[in-house]
Amino acid sequence: MADDGDAGGENGHRQSRLFTDDDGDFDAERAREESLPVENGDVVNTDELADHQTYLEGRGIYDERNRLNDLTGREWKFATKSVIPEAYPPDLQHDLRSEHGGQKPPQLCADLVGRFSKAGETVLDPFAGVGGTLLGASLCEHEGTGLREAIGFERNPRWIEVYETALERENEERRERGESPLAAQDVREGDCADLIENLPENSVDLLLTDVPYWDMDEREQTRNRRATRESKLGAFDTNDGDAVDADADDGDDDDVGGRESGSNEEGENDAQHADSSGQSKADWLAEMGDRFARFARVVRPGRYAVVFIGDMYREQSYAFLAADLARAIQDAAPMTLAANLIWYDPSKDLHVYGYPFSFVPSMVHQNVLVFRVDG
Ligand SMILES: C[S@@+](CC[C@H](N)C(=O)[O-])C[C@H]1O[C@@H](n2cnc3c(N)ncnc32)[C@H](O)[C@@H]1O
Repeated sequence: MADDGDAGGENGHRQSRLFTDDDGDFDAERAREESLPVENGDVVNTDELADHQTYLEGRGIYDERNRLNDLTGREWKFATKSVIPEAYPPDLQHDLRSEHGGQKPPQLCADLVGRFSKAGETVLDPFAGVGGTLLGASLCEHEGTGLREAIGFERNPRWIEVYETALERENEERRERGESPLAAQDVREGDCADLIENLPENSVDLLLTDVPYWDMDEREQTRNRRATRESKLGAFDTNDGDAVDADADDGDDDDVGGRESGSNEEGENDAQHADSSGQSKADWLAEMGDRFARFARVVRPGRYAVVFIGDMYREQSYAFLAADLARAIQDAAPMTLAANLIWYDPSKDLHVYGYPFSFVPSMVHQNVLVFRVDG
């Protein structure tokens, strides 16, 4: 990988003496005006780049040996940050997609697709919902480094219909604005445990998904009832649209879910109860382990499976679902946990949980588990 952390160091490719100001200091502005490539405040001497390095204007030095993505060294450095502190605006027909309740912001998915795949590669989302990953893969054509082919599996036909309608409307609006449309991706209806068998071995370069929580997705209709129950003391912020599920005044908070999926409007806190839905956490974890063991066959060795999972607070204790899921997947599938990225959404409302008796977290983050598929 091209490393731009070595600016001016002994291995650096830069020199700055030609562009000095009156005090003899490097004058980056002058260098820029003279159209020379500037990296970290120094001029890049492109004659001294290695054969496998290319200077990309405005982006930095790209290493042709990069097998993971199309990022330059400078972009890679940013992309390896373990926290994604971004509030993604509700866009791409969010009103339609929000019927789902667990939808992820397509732009966030596009950012992850850009970190973990190259243009033209294939992305799989076996739990596609209303298509956050699929839309993200299409967005890459316009806002990232190039289109990815995406395949989505979804067992609920309603969510496929919502994805298709959202794409259609989005493209109508894009055409009206004179912009090129987003590519339609390949969505297949059915159980991912069956559909995965139709994909050839090693045919997927990135698996990006957001797993169903216990059996919450069959009970989404109860979501709105929960969504209207706010903390008795109300929110610190006045934004509407954020659901909570806690009895704040007695410190006996029940569930505070990590089930958000975007900005304030993007998501709801869907705390889900295993006991009320019939599936225990152990059964859910076993099912997820089994699914990922099947998925591993189709992902190229050395590439990544990236999985959204929120934690929960329930029955006065923190349910570290990300840790549980990471263990279950590693135990069942040939995958190694490489990272836990935290998606911190600064736009989430804060509510008063537990005050004044006990500490209850306000979930403003989700975990993004990154597994490397073993060879
Ligand atoms: C958390 S949601 C994914 C939301 C998605 N990231 C989005 O942006 O819309 C999980 C989805 O998986 C689907 N699902 C659950 N079990 C499945 C299975 N066995 N096969 C296929 N889809 C399944 C559910 O219907 C639900 O829509």
